[in-house]
Amino acid sequence: MAPELARLYAPAIQAAVPTASLSERTSPGSLARYLIAIAPPPGLLPSLPSLRGVLAVGAGVEHILACGDYPAHVPLARLPQRDLVARMSEYIALHVLRAHRNVLAYEGQQRAGQWRMIWPQKAACERSVGILGAGTIGMAAARALLHFGFSVRGWARTGKPEAPIPVDVGSMELDGFLARSEILVNLLPLTPETDRLIGAAQLAQLPRGAHLINAGRGATMCEDAILAALESGALGSATLDVFAIEPLPADHPFWRHPRVTITPHCASAVTPEALAAAAAETIARLEAGETPPHLVDLARGY
Ligand code: NDP
Ligand code: OXD
Repeated sequence: MAPELARLYAPAIQAAVPTASLSERTSPGSLARYLIAIAPPPGLLPSLPSLRGVLAVGAGVEHILACGDYPAHVPLARLPQRDLVARMSEYIALHVLRAHRNVLAYEGQQRAGQWRMIWPQKAACERSVGILGAGTIGMAAARALLHFGFSVRGWARTGKPEAPIPVDVGSMELDGFLARSEILVNLLPLTPETDRLIGAAQLAQLPRGAHLINAGRGATMCEDAILAALESGALGSATLDVFAIEPLPADHPFWRHPRVTITPHCASAVTPEALAAAAAETIARLEAGETPPHLVDLARGY
C-alpha cells in the first residue's frame, strides 16, 4: 500500500499481531507470509513464494484482482468488516434521511432567505428505498432503514429467501426493482459484470425525481448518464462517495452541480485499530488452517 498509509496502519497492526515481523514495503521475492494490500503492483503477488494470504484493506477488491496475476491458491480476505459495515450503514441512513426530508431543497431556501414548508412530507413508510447490491453492507443498511419504517427492497445476483427485505434477482428483475426505487442506494462491487451496469436506460426506469446515493463503486454507473438524468429531472439529486476516477478531477462537472453532494470516498472511514483487529483475526484463522472471515470468491471477483 502507499507508504503514508503503511505508516498510519503499521503501529496498530504491530500491536494487534505482536509476533509478526512487519515490513512497511514488500519487495518482489520477499518471504512475506501475509500481505495487507490495497492495489499491489503487477508481478508482486506471483513473486512471493511464501504467501499464505492477502488481506484486502478495502471491501472492494477490484484493484487487487485488476492485474490478472492473482495466485489462485492464495486466500484473499477482506478486512475491516464490523467497523466498516457500521460506518457504511450510518452513511447510507444519513443520506437516505437527507433525501427523504428534502434537506437539499431546505439548504437552497436558506441561502435564498426563504421560509417555505415543503408539503406534504411523505412518511418513511410511504418512501421506497432500493438497495442495489444487497450484500453484507446492503443488508445492514436495510436493517437501519427498516427501523425508520422505510419500504426497503434489494437487488442481488442470487436470491435471499431469509432476508428481512424482498430481494429482486438478476438482470430480468432489474428494471422492476429500479421502477420501485424513489431512493436508489448503489452498493455494487466493481466486477466485469457490474462495470457501467447502470446507464441512461436504467436511470430512466427510476420514478421521476428519484434520489441516487452511490457508495459502491463509481465505475458501476455511467457518470455522463447521471449528469444527463439530473439535467432532465429524471434524478432529483445524487450523493456520490465513489467515482470512476479518484480523486475526482478538479474540472469534473459533479463538483459544481447544485444537486450533487460529493464526499471523498470516506463513507466507511475505518480506523487503523479496527483494521488491525480484523487483520489479527484473519491471520490467526489462516494460521490455524481455517477459512478466514470474508473470504473473496476469486471467480466472482467480490
Ligand atoms: P458483498 O460482497 O457482501 O455484497 C455485494 C452485493 O452485490 C451482493 O448482494 C451481490 O449479490 C451483489 N452483486 C455483485 N455482483 C452482482 C451482479 N452482477 N448482479 C447483481 N448483484 C450483484 O459486499 P459488501 O456489501 O461488503 O460491499 C459492497 C461494495 O461496497 C464493495 O465491493 C465496495 O465496492 C463498496 N464499499 C465502499 C465503501 C466506501 O467507503 N464507499 C466501503 C466499503 C465498501 P449476491 O449477494 O447474490 O452475491
Ligand atoms: C472500499 C473501502 O472498498 O473503503 O471502498 O473499504
